[in-house]
Amino acid sequence: MKTVIYYYTGTGNSLWTARTLAQELGDTELIPMTGGTKPQSKPEAAGFVFPVHMWGVPGRILEFIRDMEKSEGLYYFAVAVNAGQVSRTLIQLEEEMRQYKMRLSAGISVELPGNYVPWGGPGTEEEMKKLGIKAEEKIKKWAPRIKAKEEAKVERGPLWQRIVFTYIYNMTKKHINMMDKNFTVDDKCNSCGICEKVCPAHNINMVSGKPEWNRKCQQCFACIQWCPQAAIQYGKDTAKYPRYHHPSVKLSDITASIK
Ligand SMILES: Cc1cc2nc3c(=O)[nH]c(=O)nc-3n(C[C@H](O)[C@H](O)[C@H](O)COP(=O)(O)O)c2cc1C
Ligand code: SF4
Ligand code: SF4
Repeated sequence: MKTVIYYYTGTGNSLWTARTLAQELGDTELIPMTGGTKPQSKPEAAGFVFPVHMWGVPGRILEFIRDMEKSEGLYYFAVAVNAGQVSRTLIQLEEEMRQYKMRLSAGISVELPGNYVPWGGPGTEEEMKKLGIKAEEKIKKWAPRIKAKEEAKVERGPLWQRIVFTYIYNMTKKHINMMDKNFTVDDKCNSCGICEKVCPAHNINMVSGKPEWNRKCQQCFACIQWCPQAAIQYGKDTAKYPRYHHPSVKLSDITASIK
């Protein structure tokens, strides 16, 4: 079965997930949702692998699905990569896709280390390792079910999460682009320009050797997490916390996925 996985990632967790699943499925093409490429041939199944942002689907994924070439009757699946609070993300995706007559046949939640650095670091080495093992087991368990084009109820968080956090998602989504006003750069910056290169929204310009943000942010946190000097801060507390990206994903994987 030829499969296409469309992925979106800030710190590599979703790329690792997409790669791991692709390996299990076999004959799978990985396409970044930020890269502007199209599948080389017509797939029999298509998946979306992306991080949960603010308890819902990141705006970039919604735009991608709105604009993509759709095939009625194609088997669609999704993996929402998260830090323990998938909430209503996959139900939201299912509803969005229904508008375009796309049926989401399987929606899976995979937990990996958190990259929302204003709330702290990703956890201890041991915690991260445990999450990685559990995630891999889950992906391996699901792969044959996807291969068999199984229909399953999408995964979801508890009801209280879906009520409270969906309200917050709806309140915050219109402000996401502007949230980069919270980024600052400190004197550790050595003007390497990596933050500009990893931004999928081309939202960063280097001005006099320092990054400036342009209010079209997607809140993927690639810039703050990939800065090799940890010179980017978000609000007051991030200087205290370690930076994170998935250990098997390289900076070049991120830059190569951006058009
Ligand atoms: C702006 C932002 C919002 C986030 N919101 C959530 C959330 O609502 N629930 C959750 O479990 N994780 C949340 N996270 C954590 C990411 O979903 C998680 O770390 C994911 O594995 C990152 O994937 P990536 O490395 O592919 O970008 C958020 C991260 C960011 C940057
Ligand atoms: S990645 Fe960090 S060190 Fe490099 S230019 Fe950006 S802020 Fe400065
Ligand atoms: S400015 Fe930073 S957080 Fe915003 S989209 Fe670009 S890389 Fe992601």
